[in-house]
Amino acid sequence: MIMVEESLENYFLTSSGDSFTRLEDLTREALNCIRDNIVNCDQPFSGIRGDEFRDELKNWISKAGETSTFGGLTEKVFQHGIQVNHPACAAHLHCPVLAPAVAAELLIAASNYSMDSWDQTGAATIIEDEIVKWLGQKIGYEECSSGVFTSGGTQSNLMGMLLARNHFFTQRGEDVGSQGLSGEKAYVVCNEHAHFSISQSLALLGLGRDAAVKVKSNSDFQMDLTELQNTYAKLKAEGCPVIAVVATAGTTDFGSIDPLLGIAEFCRDEDLWLHVDAAYGGGLLLSQSKHLLSGLQLADSITIDFHKLFFLPISCSTLMVKNSNLLESIHFFSNYLNRQEDQEEGVLNLVGRSIQTTRRFDAFKVWVCLQTPGEKLWGEAIDKVLKIGEHAAETIKSYYSFELVNRPVMNSVVFYLKDKALSLEEANLLHNKVRKALLAEGKVVLGQTEIAGRVCFKLTLMNPLCTEEDLENILEEVYQACLIQRFQSRD
Ligand SMILES: Cc1ncc(COP(=O)(O)O)c(C=O)c1O
Repeated sequence: MIMVEESLENYFLTSSGDSFTRLEDLTREALNCIRDNIVNCDQPFSGIRGDEFRDELKNWISKAGETSTFGGLTEKVFQHGIQVNHPACAAHLHCPVLAPAVAAELLIAASNYSMDSWDQTGAATIIEDEIVKWLGQKIGYEECSSGVFTSGGTQSNLMGMLLARNHFFTQRGEDVGSQGLSGEKAYVVCNEHAHFSISQSLALLGLGRDAAVKVKSNSDFQMDLTELQNTYAKLKAEGCPVIAVVATAGTTDFGSIDPLLGIAEFCRDEDLWLHVDAAYGGGLLLSQSKHLLSGLQLADSITIDFHKLFFLPISCSTLMVKNSNLLESIHFFSNYLNRQEDQEEGVLNLVGRSIQTTRRFDAFKVWVCLQTPGEKLWGEAIDKVLKIGEHAAETIKSYYSFELVNRPVMNSVVFYLKDKALSLEEANLLHNKVRKALLAEGKVVLGQTEIAGRVCFKLTLMNPLCTEEDLENILEEVYQACLIQRFQSRD
């Protein structure tokens, strides 16, 4: 006989037992933990090292259950976590989160819908479909557009490359989806500053990382149109088939936006698939700087991340396509999940749009934030971070000892310490040490990147509530850390 623990009734969310009361108690505890450790934090990191934290956790499994669920050792996870909601957490495209979306996560988890089939979601499928339609309208796509929520920009880019590859070979009469690649090489042209997930996707798709042909950017880190034409002409002359052009709307380091309109016209003339990686820049759709995305509506496929400039919790991304029929090459029927009869009966099973099967109801977070804060206020938050980026650039320029690398169109600023007395190698080492020292002290979570062999600092200013004073403090911390490291390197 199977023994069923009576107390399990208090854990599973059913109407019998006490599970709802338990959820209320646990949620209150979790909220207290959020308030004490995430909302009220005076710096972006405790500075703990991995080995120190491991020591604190010693024998954690034997201590499990000794304290409240979200207290004790568990609370330490958040005490020693990176505090993304703090203004001095400015290394990555990693955003502070909107409170309604955090509350939405509770509903997403409690309902535990799986977005692959109607019979695992009911209404939620329609919500995702409606949000995709809304996003299509924002882009300027026609009604026949479609899309799907994904785990992130990496997966959205992979889907974009998959669809482009299938489309290219289908046009040549080859069904690579069924039969695989016949061995022919094929290429994708992108900005030299395109995200690495483009090359990685091509490797996953059997084309190899080197199938990503990088186009030199101009001095504003945008894909140069003449270079694009030259690169394409060279590939053509060498008999190298090109599958697609990838434009980036918001490069990871510089926030630069490729000339979308010019690239789209080029793709139209050459009959090439255009994928726009707007994982970062997609947020501009809600901002007063929407014009920077002009031409986006001409792309065959687009990556847009809601877990970047839209301030939604991870994960929340989309892959959009200009026409729903462009998704057909990944559509298949499965006897257990999405039967052909469902389609005939008008039942929507979203698995047909996705390369994932079980999938989260991330679209709900977008739905909730369209209710509150609503499109207008949401857009203002995006405008604010752009303004902060602008102010950061101006402030950096006013520092005699800093050199600004990019004129930011978005909220990423790259800069370095000017010091003629240091060789490039010494300067690179110093920048690296400064970033690590600031992290170890927990004062600033600073980004670092490299441009033409020079290690630079990077600020990705994702917090709309970051004030000018906060920003000036961040820069002063960086400057002081430079002076300290510079002084120490003399010893
Ligand atoms: C331009 C761009 N594309 C794609 C990605 C990958 O997105 P994700 O980290 O959500 O997979 C990033 C990540 O920063 C990015 O900056």
